[in-house]
Amino acid sequence: MNEPRIDPRLDLVDEIQRLKRERNAVLLAHYYQEGEIQDVADFLGDSLQLAQAAKATQADVICFAGVHFMAETAKILNPEKIVVVPDLAAGCSLADGCPVDRFRAWRERHPGAVSITYINCSAEVKAESDYICTSSNAEKIVRAIPADQEILFAPDKNLGRFLVQKLGRPMTLWQGSCIVHETFSERKIVALRERHPDAKVVAHPECEEAVLRLADFVGSTTALLKFTIDDAARKFIVATEPGIVHQMKKASPGKEFLDAPPEGNCACNECPHMKLNSLEKVYLALRDLAPRIELATDLRERAQVAIDRMMALS
Ligand code: 13P
Ligand code: SF4
Repeated sequence: MNEPRIDPRLDLVDEIQRLKRERNAVLLAHYYQEGEIQDVADFLGDSLQLAQAAKATQADVICFAGVHFMAETAKILNPEKIVVVPDLAAGCSLADGCPVDRFRAWRERHPGAVSITYINCSAEVKAESDYICTSSNAEKIVRAIPADQEILFAPDKNLGRFLVQKLGRPMTLWQGSCIVHETFSERKIVALRERHPDAKVVAHPECEEAVLRLADFVGSTTALLKFTIDDAARKFIVATEPGIVHQMKKASPGKEFLDAPPEGNCACNECPHMKLNSLEKVYLALRDLAPRIELATDLRERAQVAIDRMMALS
């Protein structure tokens, strides 16, 4: 990456702490960030908790170490605050796979249907949606819609199918998926579990059906972390981005965590977008108050309607 040069004598953690104080800034980080970013963050959480933290903060500046849609949500909820990100290019395959013109055309083909859209989407798509949800509140949001109402669920077909099966509620699904969670190999997880019969499998609902069928527990990143803390098992196979294992190990030092293997011999279980961020870029974002998330007022206000409906139900 083309990063401006940083004085190598600087202690980046000290500098980040100093800049946070000087700028009255809060550093929010998702669990898929590098451990060193998680360790310097003021608040860690899943998508819903990070949105709630962004809404509640008294800080003047939000530095969001996550991906673009998360920071954009923070800006939608805080138009008057400066929201900076370590790397503007940190996107999301789910958001990329749901362009607003196609989403709008899809809605037009289903007049009268209510749309519930996973928070992993652009502000433009949020503005065209009725409700936003995250993996931690999706069940609650779906249950809130009257039974006779058609639901369009976008963009993650895996989370959508998981909800349809769990709630017995038909929904029309957008055919999107996460490039990270679709790489986990059912065959290799089965083989790993045979070698570790005492391990429980935990999985994010963005995983494919065959992987979710193997899971002892399915939930958002925060729910997975909590399960590994509360459950009596001493060993877990983790089918989500391995960044979260940093917190799992910290919270349960005596337990063992095995990354669920991807199908290929690759590091494709790591989110390439989340991993664009670095401690250096967090420092630069706080130092330069850039790059910033900016949104047109009309778009922001329209996107906020669906987010507010989610927040009220959460
Ligand atoms: P969570 O809301 O569960 O943290 O998930 C965010 C995400 O992008 C998963 O890939
Ligand atoms: Fe998007 Fe998948 Fe990365 Fe989550 S892990 S931010 S869904 S690409």
